[in-house]
Amino acid sequence: MRLNITISLAFLISVTWASIPPGMEGALTTSNVPAEYLEYVFLLGGFPIIQSRSDPRVSYGVYVPKDYYNAVSNLTQDKLPLLVNIHGTSRRMTALQVDDQLPKFADEIGCAVLAPLFPAGVEGPNDISSYKVLHTASLRSDLALLDILDEVAYRWPGIDTKHIYLSGFSGGGQFAHRFLYLHPDRVAAASIGAPGRVTYPDQSKSWPQGISDVGEIFNTTVNMEKLNEISLQFVVGEKDTEIHGSSEFWEWLEEVMGSADDLPPMNESRLDTVKKLRDTWTAAGVDSLLTIVPGVAHDSEDPAMRKALWEFLGDQMSLRQNESHKV
Ligand SMILES: *[C@@H]1O[C@H](CO)[C@@H](O)[C@H](O)[C@H]1NC(C)=O
Ligand SMILES: *[C@@H]1O[C@H](CO)[C@@H](O)[C@H](O)[C@H]1NC(C)=O
Ligand SMILES: *[C@@H]1O[C@H](CO)[C@@H](O)[C@H](O)[C@H]1NC(C)=O
Ligand SMILES: *[C@@H]1O[C@H](CO)[C@@H](O)[C@H](O)[C@H]1NC(C)=O
Repeated sequence: MRLNITISLAFLISVTWASIPPGMEGALTTSNVPAEYLEYVFLLGGFPIIQSRSDPRVSYGVYVPKDYYNAVSNLTQDKLPLLVNIHGTSRRMTALQVDDQLPKFADEIGCAVLAPLFPAGVEGPNDISSYKVLHTASLRSDLALLDILDEVAYRWPGIDTKHIYLSGFSGGGQFAHRFLYLHPDRVAAASIGAPGRVTYPDQSKSWPQGISDVGEIFNTTVNMEKLNEISLQFVVGEKDTEIHGSSEFWEWLEEVMGSADDLPPMNESRLDTVKKLRDTWTAAGVDSLLTIVPGVAHDSEDPAMRKALWEFLGDQMSLRQNESHKV
């Protein structure tokens, strides 16, 4: 009897202390579903694209390798690392959903994958870029991702969501490098692929061109020393030399749309932009690798481009795991 009371008290305390993310009450998780049923409720393999409980405009897909259960059942084993892949402007999630490249990578490396979907249109019928700049009238896409990470951590307690492996190409590269300025403590390693318009660590320009007003907008400060603790790679195609749209196009666009996202017109190739951004980070004391993928233009689906983006993160995962096992 006394034992029972102690156990239920301990249970109550643990339930109260483990905070449940908003809207996740009653969720099936890998700790409350019997191991032999995990696959039947899609907690192993590809999980259906699901809306975020905290902002239903944003949704996400998750892939968990099927041998994941061994890892959670085995407390001596590390948590699974999480690759977070941010889509570009076209919102293609083919790597996760159609051609299986991300699941294959995840099975090989032994990691889970999260692919958020920030739809176009959240700030009006012509909005295609709000998620890239993290802060628009009604969306904080960085906070939306942090909330999603809490939901993933709750459903799959065996996944490490505290230190993510972040990759993003094009618009996804825009999101990724801006997320790094604000949340370096949540990222173990990042692969920033071919962003077209970027935020420089420039204290004389306001967000999203520079970082002078990060305190006002985001209630935080940019700490380049913290960025230097992250393993970083910039990736861009050798032939990513075209500028999206002519200067006439950008003038027309500004006339009809105004500058809704506060990003200046694109006036340089992504190859040049990536090099310039990396140089400014290097000058600010942030080390990184620059990978120029031979023969590839601005193509997120190119196998060599994907390999370059993800392989770096896979290496970083295994490096960290090896280090944590050193005695
Ligand atoms: C637990 O981990 C150990 C060491 O990695 C491994 O030898 C063992 O097979 C694992 N057990 C299960 C049930 O996965
Ligand atoms: C701003 O950040 C500080 C320190 O992290 C925190 O104490 C404060 O509540 C935050 N303010 C707002 C308005 O979020
Ligand atoms: C592109 O525009 C930015 C300002 O928006 C300017 O600082 C930069 O020098 C321009 N680059 C070229 C190649 O014209
Ligand atoms: C981690 O250790 C394994 C096994 O010893 C080795 O094969 C792998 O190359 C190591 N990874 C890195 C990135 O050093």
